[in-house]
Amino acid sequence: MSCDRLWRGARLAMMTGGKGDPLGLVGDGIVAVADGRILWAGPAADAPGFAAGEVVECGGRWITPGLVDCHTHLVHAGNRTGEFVARLGGADYAAIAEAGGGILATVRATRAADEAGLVAQSLARLDALLAEGVTTVEIKSGYGLTLADELKMLRAARALAGLRPVGVTTSLLAAHAVPPEFRGAGIASPADAYIDHVIAAMLPAAAGLADAVDAFCETIAFSPAQIDRLFTAARAHGYAVRLHAEQLSDQGGAELAARHGALSADHLEHLGDAGIAALARAGTVAVLLPGAYYFLREIKAPPVAALRAAGVAMAVATDLNPGTSPLASPLVAMNMAAVLFGLTPDECLTGMTVTAARALGLGGRIGVLRPGHDADLAIWDIDHPHDLVCRIGPNPLWRRIFKGQDT
Ligand code: NIG
Ligand code: FE
Repeated sequence: MSCDRLWRGARLAMMTGGKGDPLGLVGDGIVAVADGRILWAGPAADAPGFAAGEVVECGGRWITPGLVDCHTHLVHAGNRTGEFVARLGGADYAAIAEAGGGILATVRATRAADEAGLVAQSLARLDALLAEGVTTVEIKSGYGLTLADELKMLRAARALAGLRPVGVTTSLLAAHAVPPEFRGAGIASPADAYIDHVIAAMLPAAAGLADAVDAFCETIAFSPAQIDRLFTAARAHGYAVRLHAEQLSDQGGAELAARHGALSADHLEHLGDAGIAALARAGTVAVLLPGAYYFLREIKAPPVAALRAAGVAMAVATDLNPGTSPLASPLVAMNMAAVLFGLTPDECLTGMTVTAARALGLGGRIGVLRPGHDADLAIWDIDHPHDLVCRIGPNPLWRRIFKGQDT
């Protein structure tokens, strides 16, 4: 059999495993790639003979699928370190938001930036993710909140994929906060009026620029009824949906997300039993974001044991954003998921690969070392994949491969 490139002498964490071997570990493995896709991956002993254009000797290093960061707000402008300092002094995130800071502070900075400036500011954050083995990243809008500024953010996110070897998937998060121009001004329900505008103007205009529609279900953002209207319209336009749910309080957001067949419900610190059951029934992925929990110094962790018992798949992401999670490190996010939330190291690793891919609706293409999948690989100088969860620094990435090419 002929292939373009072949990696051998590697240990593999294929992420194909089931019970007893969730990581799909292989002691002496081979990965063969042709036309940017995996042609064959598995134990050397089972491999067919390959005529390879190039052979890479891995010297016992570990190959995993490239990491998938399935929840980020990495395109944004501005700086909210002042809020971090204020929170350390006792200020409350919700109170800062109600006073026009928080998300709206980043909205002001992002509106003031042009598309090229946004791209330039965001590249450094993207590069930090790539340096730790990320090969696919989800990027949300949500700091524009006007049609023009939301589209500008989505175009900036798409542009990043042309500047770096990385897969980018986008979510329209117009329903992130009620914009200032809808507040007051004699409008009876500013949030409802804004949702009407998102439905009428933004959903049609973002076709092709956004892969999914996201929203923030919270007392300081939008109600389940408002998001129900948005998601009904979004699905009619053919968008997948996902939701920031139960981050600060239990709003029944996870049940709403499940009812709409959402790809994921994210955060979930305040998730209750009804929400867990709904996610399990719908097959909606629970995306856990320990960075936001950590930076907000929350004390109520998501109900990981109950999610596990109910069979809800759990993903882990950085939530990289300027306010609640200025964290551009997937490896630290995995460490936090283990230490703060009690995920097992195996759950952290599947949560940043195979399950994260599912949360993006890309489970058939990335996240697993499987023939036909994109040849997106991370090769690590480690003794065991658990090292990726156990340590904070130094960065053990040896090579990052995107669609078969070294990057
Ligand atoms: O995922 N929860 C809402 N949105 C973001 C943070 C927004 C912000 O504070 O800028 C999050 O935590
Ligand atoms: Fe978020």
